[in-house]
Amino acid sequence: MSRRPLIAGNWKMYLTKDEAVQLASSIASSCRGIDDRDVMLAPPSIFLQAVSESVRDSPVMVAGQNVCWESEGAFTGEISPVMLKNAGAAMVILGHSERRHIFHESDELVNKRLLGALRFDLIPILCIGETLDQREEEQTFAVLEQQLAKGFADVCLEDAEKVLIAYEPVWAIGTGKTATREQAQDAHYFVRGVLSGLYEKKLADKVRILYGGSVKPDNIDSLMAEPDIDGALVGGAALQSESFDRIIHFSK
Ligand code: PGA
Repeated sequence: MSRRPLIAGNWKMYLTKDEAVQLASSIASSCRGIDDRDVMLAPPSIFLQAVSESVRDSPVMVAGQNVCWESEGAFTGEISPVMLKNAGAAMVILGHSERRHIFHESDELVNKRLLGALRFDLIPILCIGETLDQREEEQTFAVLEQQLAKGFADVCLEDAEKVLIAYEPVWAIGTGKTATREQAQDAHYFVRGVLSGLYEKKLADKVRILYGGSVKPDNIDSLMAEPDIDGALVGGAALQSESFDRIIHFSK
């Protein structure tokens, strides 16, 4: 089954508006003519509109870094799916490890956000991943299984097909320690098996699973050569056009 690769940049809470616009424009121009892979940028929400305008007429998609489950209401500090779409976003990152660990977002909250995104036609990228302690205690698969089961609670088959997964081992995020291609492949293969159990094999074969955690120009090709790795969610290396360009133009 061939799945279209996605290279996604998560800018987290970095860049000024000018830097964001400049980086987005440079990525948009290096993506012209690309037609065999998707590229996505997730800027801080306050720059979504400006970044969306900078990538207009290019294949680059724009995403939010989180989203509320309601279209509007008294939710100070939150941004609704409708607002993200108004600002040009087509996708949204959910359950990133920084949201889970720094802001204590639970699986239940992540699920609520996921259902909200789907209700308003935003494509979610659901992030899952184990901590170093959990890996050392051989809990990796149990953690992934629970994050998936709870993350997909009440999501129907038709909606589940729209979701992308990002496997991001917490110990590899921003640390320079990438999972080996074998560790990543094992986890991705496992995730596909869980999805097959939660839904059906046909869906599991279709869902795109990205790897995230210290993806760099010098490891992207070998990661992408693995059969169950369908793309990358890139943090640090997405903040410079040269390194992100190289990652976008990976070859297997
Ligand atoms: P990193 O971040 O590439 O800097 O490790 C990845 C992420 O947080 O999505």
